[in-house]
Amino acid sequence: MPLRESETIVLRSLYEIERLRQSNIIVAEILNELRADAKAGAATIDIERICEEEIKKRKVVPAFKGYRGYPYCICSSVNEEVVHGMPCKRVLNEGDILSIDLGVLHNGYYGDAAITIPIGSVSEDAKRLMDVTERSLYIGIDEAKVGNRLFDIGAAIQEYVEGNGFSVVRDFVGHGIGQSLHEAPQVPNFGERGKGIRLKAGMVLAIEPMINAGGHEVVVLDDGWTVVTKDGSLSAHFEHSIAITNDGAYILSKL
Ligand code: MF3
Ligand code: CO
Repeated sequence: MPLRESETIVLRSLYEIERLRQSNIIVAEILNELRADAKAGAATIDIERICEEEIKKRKVVPAFKGYRGYPYCICSSVNEEVVHGMPCKRVLNEGDILSIDLGVLHNGYYGDAAITIPIGSVSEDAKRLMDVTERSLYIGIDEAKVGNRLFDIGAAIQEYVEGNGFSVVRDFVGHGIGQSLHEAPQVPNFGERGKGIRLKAGMVLAIEPMINAGGHEVVVLDDGWTVVTKDGSLSAHFEHSIAITNDGAYILSKL
């Protein structure tokens, strides 16, 4: 989500966390199905169509479709596209990297997760970018614990990513998630340790590092959605929705 004003943070009961788990598991299952369809020769709109079928089969509601006028179930972002790429006739080529972001609404609660996958065999640089981005997500999740502060998450992600020579996108951030797709607080993937609100049991967060191989600057294309790196460098994106519990972070969108 883009940077916005903050509002009240809702603490979720165990019952609600279980509902959120159900929505997020559906997202994880569909993303897993789509992995197999993201092959050289397929167009991103083909993946959207398959996703639509999977969504219908499970009788859930796509969360992004209609959100501020966004017309599709998934965001499909290829190579230098960071996030919010729109499915189209663009055919995937061997060596591309593709980020698929999916959200669903089920029984009143949202699920949201994203993966970046290689199309066939990709460059060592692309592999390392995807690997560092996914690891940075787990490093961030490890900081999402009772007593820590919000920016401990972003600080850990940023340190790890920059230590590996990549950069963290600043203009888009993670978010609280629950009965709305985007709730407070915003969850930046950068920042200073020890800053921000104190994390409490019951907070549910979508953590989603967007990591560029080059500079951190991004540009939104004329379609009003597609975010690309300003320098044309590759970008990767991984996202999990997690619940903070007294036993640490519970990853809701992990199979
Ligand atoms: N995971 C992304 C986000 O939280 C996807 C939003 S796409 C949109 O911002 F279409 F819903 F905006
Ligand atoms: Co999200």
